[in-house]
Amino acid sequence: MTKAVKKAVLPVAGLGTRVLPGAKTTPKNLLNVVDRPILSYIVEEARAAGIEHFVFIVGRGQGAIEDYFDANPEIEQALEAKGKTDILAEMRREVGEPGQMSFIRQMAPLGLGHAVWCARHVIGDEPFAVMLPDMLMAAQRPALAQAVEAYEKTGGNIVVVEPAPEGEAHKYGIVALEKGDGRLNRMTGMVEKPAPGTEPSNLFISGRYILQPEIFEILETQERGAGGEIQLTDGMAALMKRQDFHALEYEGITYDCGDKIGLLRANVAFALARPELADAARAAIKSLL
Ligand code: UTP
Repeated sequence: MTKAVKKAVLPVAGLGTRVLPGAKTTPKNLLNVVDRPILSYIVEEARAAGIEHFVFIVGRGQGAIEDYFDANPEIEQALEAKGKTDILAEMRREVGEPGQMSFIRQMAPLGLGHAVWCARHVIGDEPFAVMLPDMLMAAQRPALAQAVEAYEKTGGNIVVVEPAPEGEAHKYGIVALEKGDGRLNRMTGMVEKPAPGTEPSNLFISGRYILQPEIFEILETQERGAGGEIQLTDGMAALMKRQDFHALEYEGITYDCGDKIGLLRANVAFALARPELADAARAAIKSLL
């Protein structure tokens, strides 16, 4: 029997240099895709996978994230008075229950591994999910739910992966696998941003993980790696000497919203996927081409 995954860590404390200056005053994960922030989709995905506690790792100037997930009686009363029940229900759905969300300051953006380590006291001694909130994943069955399903089969640690675009594997964390014919395979290694030509596969770590709490003791003393940052990939590689890791090639489409064009693509794709917006979105896009 595997222990259930009930908590998710959402690290949002990076500087977001690729989407500056916009990310200077608005945390990049609060930028909208169509009509709600990227983070709203990520929390929805987590809920669909059975997550009950959300641990945000935040930086300075990101208080708006807490406010977004809090109730706002003034707006809610105004919507009620105007009979705008649909949007009112949607807003209330975002809020969740008191005590369901924790916000932890990273204090300095020393890397993703360091950000995850900051969650250790809230996670305690149980398996947990990590979700990179830049990576918006559109999937019939939500990506994290696919990962939880895989975890229920294998136990241990799960890393969600997908094929990197041709010739770009050196930009990512890349996994090495035992040969298998399905989408879920035992991992034999991983490396952050391998030198071109040395990549062990074309599968990159795309932003959803299920990890065992022993990762925290490794991250505690971990040296800086690629880019001078404390890398989660290095911590996982060390944990792999003691525990099983499986890579799941998930079914869906990923949009990297930490990148200008990725955010644009997500907006276009999500607008086209909304029945009430699709026709108008298509006409607007056509008129620009
Ligand atoms: P990124 O590599 O996208 O870094 O981090 P970034 O700083 O946000 O963006 P750029 O590259 O400068 O544009 C992946 C995820 O890890 C978080 C980021 O917020 C992002 O969600 N992160 C990264 C932290 O929370 N803390 C860190 O120290 C580094």
